[in-house]
Order: sequence, then structure tokens, then C-alpha cells
Amino acid sequence: MTFLSAPSLRRGIAFEAQGRPAPSRAASGASAEAAAQNGAVRGGSVRFERIDKVYRSKSGDVSALAGIDVEVKPGSIFGIIGRSGAGKSSLIRLVNRLEAPTGGRVLVNGVDIATLDTPGLVGLRRRIGMIFQHFNLLSAKTVWDNIALPLVVAGTPRAEIGPRVERVLELVGLSDKRDVYPARLSGGQKQRVGIARALVCDPDILLCDEATSALDPETTLSILALLKDINRRLGLTIILITHEMSVIREICDTVLVLEQGRIVETGPVWRIFGDPQAEATRALLQPLVRDLPDDIALRLKTTRSGPTDHAVLSLHYTGEGGEPDLAAIAAALNAPLTLLHAAIDRVQGRSHGRLLVKIAGREPSPETLAALAQDAKVIGYVRDHA
Ligand SMILES: Nc1ncnc2c1ncn2[C@@H]1O[C@H](COP(=O)(O)OP(=O)(O)O)[C@@H](O)[C@H]1O
Ligand SMILES: [Mg+2]
Repeated sequence: MTFLSAPSLRRGIAFEAQGRPAPSRAASGASAEAAAQNGAVRGGSVRFERIDKVYRSKSGDVSALAGIDVEVKPGSIFGIIGRSGAGKSSLIRLVNRLEAPTGGRVLVNGVDIATLDTPGLVGLRRRIGMIFQHFNLLSAKTVWDNIALPLVVAGTPRAEIGPRVERVLELVGLSDKRDVYPARLSGGQKQRVGIARALVCDPDILLCDEATSALDPETTLSILALLKDINRRLGLTIILITHEMSVIREICDTVLVLEQGRIVETGPVWRIFGDPQAEATRALLQPLVRDLPDDIALRLKTTRSGPTDHAVLSLHYTGEGGEPDLAAIAAALNAPLTLLHAAIDRVQGRSHGRLLVKIAGREPSPETLAALAQDAKVIGYVRDHA
């Protein structure tokens, strides 16, 4: 897959409403331009200031968010995690003003978005792409037309639309599917179309609401790898909602743990995983270590802190595939392995259970893991000599 250089895909960083520069970006424009020229392209920033959100209805008020105060740094991948109903979607929908807060302010690139007039709001939404759990593609339109739609709606000249759709199709690796209808695509391909459509207007910020929740583990990894690459190459800020800690661990820099509309914990992923303070965070981390032998669970760390830490790989056997073949596993990983734990049962001649192996040296890439087995997963790290 080839990618575009950041400046060729991103034209201008300040969000503009029909040629009118946004007020706050005028001041920072010079440094943003300098950054772009240096190749250090930066994405948009978001600041939630003392946010409250109450949904009012006849059957009563629902407080969805209370006292949210947090900043999303330009160019970061910011994860929001919490159980169903925690307020994640409510929070992310404030960024492009699909919802307005009941109290507090949302600043995007330094601008209080409540002050934007209609053209300003249109400009804001063009600078912010969004992808969804169920992709939200139009089934009667081809891949190409789905991706072109935001440009058509924006009144982009025809001659410009073609090259821009072409570029994002290439970016997500779907150039050969341009004339296909969504029904003919796999879930992963549909989400790639969603990502291409979200990127076609060159946004500063990409919002992802449970973007991998409808996908199998292997496809999830490939979509997360794509998002990470987009973040790295285009410098765009990604705000990502999930209920799965494994997604946060895979790609986020910073995480915010939300429970019943409040922040229970926020900070760099390495710190929250390494030393979770809140009960809610520990509960969300649980699935990563569930069913482990006690001594391994105790030794297992959630982040890698140095070269003497080695990845622990978990492999499940469901009776569908063959028997655990350690030589094949070692060959696929191309690294010395130590068997930490094997709980393999034989049911009607088929292997069921789980293997845990320690991998010396470099952590395997998501592609290597995906090629090894559908649910091959690094569940944590152990010290070399422990
Ligand atoms: N449009 C709405 N009207 C009324 N209540 C809502 C609406 N949207 C969400 N809620 C409520 O707000 C709370 C947070 O919901 P949501 O932000 O969707 O959480 P999450 O995305 O974490 O599952 C829930 O109690 C939900 O029922
Ligand atoms: Mg939600």
C-alpha cells in the first residue's frame, strides 16, 4: 500500500468557512504553516471545558456527562473507554456539534464552537471526519460515490473530486473496489470506505465511534494499524471511542476512562495500564488477564518498560484448527519461544484450550500475529529473569 506525503493530502490546517479564516487560527497560523513546512504536520486540538450534558425528555432528565475537563493534544491518538452508557458517544458528538453541551465549552483549534455561525459550523464539520461502528455507507451508491459524497455536498468542482477520491482510495488500499457496491464488501473493507470518506475533505481531526466493534479480531488489528498509519503520516488527531482495552493498548497515546458521565482516570496509556488507580479501570483491564494461572497473572505487566521485558502471546484452540504446532509458531514468529503455560484438552480428537508463550526479542507485528492465528494476541509482558 502506498501512502501520500502529508502535505499533498492536507491542504491548510486552520478550518475555514468558505474562505473566511477562523478567528483563533489566524494567530497560530504562522507556526502551523512553519510546522507543516518542516514536515511536522499537526492535527487539530480539542479542549473540553467543564462539560455537562443533560438529555431532557418527558420521562425525565438523563445526566450523560458531568464536569468533563480535558484536553486532546494535536496529532495525538486519544482513546475514550467506558462501559455501555458511560457517555462516550455523547462526549465525542460534542466535538462536531452533533450535540451541544448543557454546560461548559468545547474549543476546537482554540475556537469556542458555540460561537460559530452556520457557515462556521459547516467549515468546522469539514475539518472533522467521523467513522462509525456500522459504517453508515449508502447501499445504493458505489464505493467511489460514497467517498465522493462529502465533496459533492461541499460543492467541490468536479475536476477536483476525481483526484481526491483516487488519493484516499489508495490511502486505504481499496483502489480496486471503486465501482463495487457496499453489499459486496467485507466488514473491514466497508470500514476502509468509511475511513476514506472521512478523510476526503482533509480533516484535522478524525472521530471514531466504536469503529472496530463490529469487526473480528484480525480485521480490527488491520483497521487499527491503518488508523495509526494515518495518524503518523498525516499528523491528524484521532479521538477514538471503544469499550475494549485491547484497542486502547494497540494504538492510543492517551486514554480517558469514563464512568457514568464522569472522568475516573486519564493520562498516558503506559501509566494507566501500568498502574491503574480506579476500580473501573481495573475492571476494564480484566478481560486481558482473565483465566491466567495466578503466578503468570501476577508477573504479567500491561506495558513493556524495557528490553528485558518480553511479550506474552496467547493462542486459543477451539477445535476448528489443527493441533498446537510449536515449531510452526516459532517459525512464524522467527524468535526464540518459551512455553509459559499450556491448557490443552482433547475433545473428540480435537484440540481445545490455550497456550501462553514468551517471545524473546522484538514484539511481533500485528500482521505476524494475524497470520499466525485469528485470535493470536499479546496479552502483556514479563521480565526476562522473573
Ligand atoms: N439522545 C438521547 N436522549 C436521551 N438520552 C440519551 C440520548 N443519547 C444518550 N442518552 C443517554 O445518555 C447516557 C450516555 O449515553 P452514550 O453517550 O450513548 O453512552 P456510550 O456511548 O458510552 O454507550 C445513557 O444513559 C443514554 O441512555
Ligand atoms: Mg456509544
